[in-house]
Amino acid sequence: MFYPEEIIEEIRQRNDIVDVISSYIKLKKTGSNYVGLCPFHNEKSPSFSVSPNRQMYHCFGCGVGGNVITFVMEYENFNFVEAVKYLADRCGMQLPETQVSEEVRRNANLKNRILEVNKEAAKYYVYQLRTPVGKQALEYLEGRELSKETITKFGLGYSNKYSDDLYQYMKSKGYEDSLLKETGLFSWDEKHGVYDKFWNRVMYPIMDINSKVIGFGGRVMGEGKPKYLNSPETKVFDKSRNLYGLNLARQSRSRTYILCEGYMDVISMHQAGFSNAVASLGTAFTGLQANLLKRYADEILLLYDSDGAGVKAALRAIPILKEAGLPARVVRLKPYKDPDEFIKALGHDEFQKRLDDAINSFYFEIEVLEQQFDLTDPEGKTKFYNAVAKKLLTFTEKIERTNYIEAIAEKYHIVKEDLEKLVNRYGAQMIANPERRSGNEQNREKMLRQKESSLKTSQKILITWLLDDVSLFHKIENILSPEDFREEPYKTVAELMFQQYKEAGELQPAKILNQFESKEEHNEVASMFSQNMNDELTLQEKERMLNETVCQIKKDSLDFRNRNATDIQELQQIVKEQAELQKLHISL
Ligand code: UTP
Ligand code: MN
Repeated sequence: MFYPEEIIEEIRQRNDIVDVISSYIKLKKTGSNYVGLCPFHNEKSPSFSVSPNRQMYHCFGCGVGGNVITFVMEYENFNFVEAVKYLADRCGMQLPETQVSEEVRRNANLKNRILEVNKEAAKYYVYQLRTPVGKQALEYLEGRELSKETITKFGLGYSNKYSDDLYQYMKSKGYEDSLLKETGLFSWDEKHGVYDKFWNRVMYPIMDINSKVIGFGGRVMGEGKPKYLNSPETKVFDKSRNLYGLNLARQSRSRTYILCEGYMDVISMHQAGFSNAVASLGTAFTGLQANLLKRYADEILLLYDSDGAGVKAALRAIPILKEAGLPARVVRLKPYKDPDEFIKALGHDEFQKRLDDAINSFYFEIEVLEQQFDLTDPEGKTKFYNAVAKKLLTFTEKIERTNYIEAIAEKYHIVKEDLEKLVNRYGAQMIANPERRSGNEQNREKMLRQKESSLKTSQKILITWLLDDVSLFHKIENILSPEDFREEPYKTVAELMFQQYKEAGELQPAKILNQFESKEEHNEVASMFSQNMNDELTLQEKERMLNETVCQIKKDSLDFRNRNATDIQELQQIVKEQAELQKLHISL
């Protein structure tokens, strides 16, 4: 960190969050909070809330949140240091000369400078496309029926045939090799010197949600391998955290997003008026991408290629989306291969029909399953029913399971009661026979994940409660310590809360955020501080939940220590604490 913590804290305190946010958006007072339309996603009714007491904001619609520094980071797209400087300026505070070395300063600045080079490169590629050398590339794009507006909107360009043209251009602009090396745009070769990574390709800039160029994809014109060459990951380009087209799709005002495979799919869908399309950059879809989508979307239409690879990719994406809480439907394009082909062949209206006809992701999974069995053969049929029954068990909610049993029974002409029995029999087997369960890797992984996420939830809930009611500290301090929180960012947050409680007997949540520098962490931590303990619970219910939560956190922590204990005394201590935990009762 650049500046001492006290300075950052003073800057935060001297910039009232309501004042600062009001200078950007209109806020209205309701009760003790202020609300307004969230500036970070499109909405018609306000779900963006600012708390003057806590000096924090949180959007219940898209999940962003933080303190005044976070807000400026998000809104102005500043990094932490830039935001601090800006706010110091705003309240007329003189920042001390930092004593950090030139080296450190440059590193912190590196990301911005890589982005700057990327932007220059994108501009250069765009320019090339418009010169005579880019004629063939422009013809290629026009041959793919892209309009002038589309080409401009997506910033498409061309990298010419000279092997080091971009490099020479960057050198003429004064960029040094050490910076250029970080951009992934060039290769250094002992024998041949430096050459451009992309040459003689049509260039697709990849942008983050704020439309900053973070990398490129380059396509050969016509046949040739590899078809697309992509920038390697750099300090600004993390493939697992970005989606192609999201910067444009987020302006679409739709809460349903189309997720597809490729650059061209996104571009042709946008051109045809489906501006809610994004793609996962040619890599497998990740949980991080699902969480990113969750900020903007309530439902996903999966639109992967209709070939075997596309089906596989869709099957992989479905549970990831489910885990992120995003329901998915699958769009079928047969006999066409991908959206680009489909739209070219049949146009907007037919495409819209296919979107409307998208099937629920579970039915899609069953359909794929069906193809693996020969349903004309009685034995194949039985095997299929068994597989379906097993799959139905993945619905943990009884009502949901029953609904699907009914629907599937009807669709495949199975007697409902028979299917129900089959499902229940599998369920019973799972419970009675844990080896069978653990034999099934996928299931075990899933259970582990569930356990992990419920543990995270417990840590999060407890932190929220402690913030809501400081007197709880007194009740739990003999049982739990910050070390019992094992997951970040909960661990750090717990440490800081316990420390503030010990020192002052009260908490300053917005101050805790100063410890975190990335926007993602700010959002995560702010969401902990913005949930209210459920007031609809009775005192007994609250008490029971509190005991369960504390118990779960402690138990996990003791299990962990138990696995890693090295001496007898420590083990004895753990056993003792485990026994005490059995008797635990905190009363409210
Ligand atoms: P596709 O081959 O379906 O690409 O691969 P596309 O976008 O439809 O391309 P066109 O229509 O043939 O021009 C899907 C995605 O996989 C990645 C790219 O992100 C591509 O958009 N990919 C594919 C690569 O990164 N490299 C490759 O060689 C091929
Ligand atoms: Mn394709």
